[in-house]
Amino acid sequence: MKKLSIFFCAACAAAMLSASAMAADFLADRHAAKGLACSSCHKETPPAKRVKTEQCQTCHGDYAALAKRTAKMQPNNVHENHLGDLDCRECHQGHKADKLACAECHQFKFTMPK
Ligand code: HEC
Ligand code: HEC
Ligand code: HEC
Ligand code: HEC
Repeated sequence: MKKLSIFFCAACAAAMLSASAMAADFLADRHAAKGLACSSCHKETPPAKRVKTEQCQTCHGDYAALAKRTAKMQPNNVHENHLGDLDCRECHQGHKADKLACAECHQFKFTMPK
């Protein structure tokens, strides 16, 4: 019989935030997969401009709400940090790979509880 081993790779989860790990699966694609149109983020038609953090927050709430969702995140809660309320795009990028604003100074390997 064929044996299939599945393991959870914490480093892989962190790698999702690096370079081109999720090449065809960027933020906008993942929203589309949830049934959200371009216009849910972009006010103008056709989309042409950057999406403001306030627009993200109409659905996702403020940083206090986000911090609640990621409260169990290790080694610390990325939505509650000493940089204050950053633009979402400092980490979540619309149409390209995510990045981590903390990486400039720290080498956290974030993992998400599942
Ligand atoms: C989750 C929200 C979201 C959705 C949904 C989304 N976008 Fe975007 N889009 C962004 C963000 C954020 C930026 C700004 C990128 C940046 O600041 O680097 C952007 C920028 C753009 C730009 C401007 C080019 C640029 O890089 O500045 C175009 C054009 C665009 N999007 C087209 C689209 C189209 C077409 C769709 C639907 C298929 C779409 N977007 C869906 C978030 C979204
Ligand atoms: C019209 C409502 C809406 C807007 C506007 C919106 N989102 Fe979302 N977003 C959702 C929904 C619905 C989901 C899926 C359920 C969830 O995780 O909340 C989601 C999921 C996410 C996720 C986690 C899931 C994943 O696969 O990445 C992130 C990160 C995210 N959004 C960031 C953003 C950012 C950044 C913006 C602004 C550029 C934004 N969202 C704008 C509704 C929205
Ligand atoms: C300093 C970096 C950083 C900033 C700034 C940031 N996030 Fe996140 N966010 C993350 C990381 C890391 C995760 C967990 C891994 C992932 O899903 O990419 C995450 C996860 C999320 C999730 C999914 C939470 C869950 O329950 O799984 C949502 C929704 C989200 N972010 C929305 C936002 C919105 C909206 C903003 C702006 C108001 C924002 N984030 C700003 C780094 C950041
Ligand atoms: C411009 C540089 C810089 C950036 C960017 C930065 N930090 Fe820090 N951070 C520091 C310094 C300096 C300290 C204090 C010295 C120390 O304890 O390492 C610190 C301390 C911390 C600490 C407490 C000490 C520890 O290492 O556990 C946490 C937690 C932390 N930062 C989280 C973050 C998170 C999350 C981000 C991204 C949202 C971030 N930092 C972005 C410079 C930075």
